[in-house]
Amino acid sequence: SDEPVIVGSVLGADYAHLGNEVASLTAAGVGRIQWDVMDRRFVPNMTFGPDVVAACRKYSNMPFEAHLMVQDPDPMLADFVAAGCETIIVHAETCPHLLRTLATIRELGAQAGVAVNPSTPLDFVRYVLDHLDEIVIMTVNPGFGGQKYIPAMEEKVSEMRALVGRSGRAVKIEVDGGISTATAKAAWYAGAELLVAGSAVLSHPGGKKAAVAELHRAMA
Ligand code: DX5
Repeated sequence: SDEPVIVGSVLGADYAHLGNEVASLTAAGVGRIQWDVMDRRFVPNMTFGPDVVAACRKYSNMPFEAHLMVQDPDPMLADFVAAGCETIIVHAETCPHLLRTLATIRELGAQAGVAVNPSTPLDFVRYVLDHLDEIVIMTVNPGFGGQKYIPAMEEKVSEMRALVGRSGRAVKIEVDGGISTATAKAAWYAGAELLVAGSAVLSHPGGKKAAVAELHRAMA
């Protein structure tokens, strides 16, 4: 199939110039912008809320997805949709009523995504595929950018690809964490169609555009 979409994560961006960073990520050719929302409870780091996302909405015409790495996502779903996120991704580990949460995201008019940490089995999503637009398979332990990709997750990506195939559902598969020119092709071949890249793009010495082009070349 044609190449995967590179999703630009703003986690390691220059927060003093966030609007410009979002604009330059967009100009660099990413297909989506990902907002890594962290509450210092579910993950040992804290980032931004919906007001920051809303302030950056006008700097990009690319879809925004909110990756809610928070202990209690339900009360904030509507705020991130209102801030301009087309996709809301919750963590299976924080949603005891996951089917209801996914249905709520869709009722809000957004695409429903669920992320699973490296140790979380896919059984957590087996019975909610009908309510799911996207699954994010974490290829690092969530919380920080610049971590090492976990190759063992490729088996999980392939397992998810087979599960989606058998279900006949159009569930997109995304990987998140440690994507670089060294890991992108293997992640894609394992079955991912969306690759989140943070540090590989944001801290590339040649700039964001060169970084995105290099990632695409690495998969050719
Ligand atoms: C981890 C974050 C990161 C980020 C991408 O919680 O989800 O994976 O999106 O960061 P890099 O590409 O630097 O691993």
